[in-house]
Amino acid sequence: MTRFHSIIPLLLWGLVGAWISSAHAEVDRERLLAEPGIYGTFAAFALDDEWGRLEPSARIARLATLKGVVEQHRENVAIDLYLLRGLSDRADVLFGIHASELRDTQRFLLDLQSSRFGTHLIGVRVMHGLTKKPNYVPGFSDQMKTELKAPSEAGEKLYAIVIPIRKSAEWWELDQEKRTAMMREHTAVTLPFLKTVKRKLYHSSGLDDVDFITYFETSTLEDFHSLVLSLQKVKEFGYTRQFGSPTLLGTMQSLDEMIEVLAQ
Ligand code: HEM
Repeated sequence: MTRFHSIIPLLLWGLVGAWISSAHAEVDRERLLAEPGIYGTFAAFALDDEWGRLEPSARIARLATLKGVVEQHRENVAIDLYLLRGLSDRADVLFGIHASELRDTQRFLLDLQSSRFGTHLIGVRVMHGLTKKPNYVPGFSDQMKTELKAPSEAGEKLYAIVIPIRKSAEWWELDQEKRTAMMREHTAVTLPFLKTVKRKLYHSSGLDDVDFITYFETSTLEDFHSLVLSLQKVKEFGYTRQFGSPTLLGTMQSLDEMIEVLAQ
């Protein structure tokens, strides 16, 4: 098939996608990404061997079903996509899903997996957490609180990193004051990196095998590396029992960009 012919189905399904988007109102994404009490799920998948053997036209037809499912569920959940392939040996694609109800996330993942594209997905890992109001920040100085509100540098970030974390029983046995003092130290060493690293914290105890899922966006991976090295030196880090396993590192993609990459 010529390049021109292989582009036609892409254009056609772009039109279908535009129709589906206009038919489904989008959930209040800003609210889901900012408020406490929201469930965040990170679902990583590998593509099966058959995917690599499919003709481009067959891939495009299956990717149209990915687009359909994502657009359909955007009514209830906020969906972000990340390409892990090439940067991770565990998985190829990662879906970040935010919802007020975890069952809405489940509905999306079920529909995704039963779509024609989803039949090629092999589940690698699903992690859940809940956004909460800050536990320790209210006990910080006004200056630290203000510094924490400083926005990161404008512009789209290129990379996303997801790191699950579990802390020791000793950490949870400490009183709030002692934990706050250590989190103050955690914050003092990490604040200089806020300019280039965006962060988000999910509480996972009871919802997953870990206590937290930490999520970061940056275009400067070297800064992120230095940030983690700084963090490893503070007292609070000594209470960490699991850091990563897996650490997921990927590039941020729009739905159309992801489809274009996977179609190749
Ligand atoms: C951009 C740099 C960072 C800043 C400014 C920052 C700041 C903070 C703050 C203020 C809290 C306390 C939230 C609360 O009051 O509940 C916190 C919690 C936490 N941070 Fe960071 N952080 C940064 C980077 C990191 C990194 C790189 C990791 C690990 C990969 C990390 C792991 C955690 C964890 C696990 C908690 C929860 C601790 C607990 O509640 O016991 N942070 N961070």
